[in-house]
Amino acid sequence: MAETRKIVVTVNGRRHEAEVETRYTLADFLRHELGLTGTHLGCEHGVCGACTVLFDGRAARSCLMLGVQAHGHEITTVEGLAPSAAQLHPLQEAFRDNHGLQCGFCTPGILMTLIEFLRDNPRPTEQEVRVALSGNLCRCTGYAGIVAAALDAAERMRGVVRG
Ligand code: FES
Ligand code: FES
Repeated sequence: MAETRKIVVTVNGRRHEAEVETRYTLADFLRHELGLTGTHLGCEHGVCGACTVLFDGRAARSCLMLGVQAHGHEITTVEGLAPSAAQLHPLQEAFRDNHGLQCGFCTPGILMTLIEFLRDNPRPTEQEVRVALSGNLCRCTGYAGIVAAALDAAERMRGVVRG
């Protein structure tokens, strides 16, 4: 029988008590136990960034952590970004409007990386955005749309109105 531990974790503002298999990664826990399948798994060894979530407000690879390590902590996944079902987060709007979604598989991880980055760097240069995204691998069409979306999102999140 699989070994389990009880954990209490806050995910997207909601408290969960769960009995978690100790072998589960945090990504597995989010996807299989909580049904938050927006967190994707690509490489499963810390390279691609597809599994990025916020852990106590900092971007973290959920494939490199165990679910039990989330006990007592606060997690935000891509499902927690939009303020409501009817309204996207400005970062999501910027990705929609700048063709930043691309293959879509990597997008949740990219968004979670950028949420932290733009919070800490509200006026980034293009080069800074490219460096920030260097841990999120894209092999479909390149980074042009993603970078444009990030720069647009920085303006939107600062409340800049575009003409
Ligand atoms: S799935 Fe976690 S970094 Fe690739
Ligand atoms: S955005 Fe997924 S491979 Fe490019």
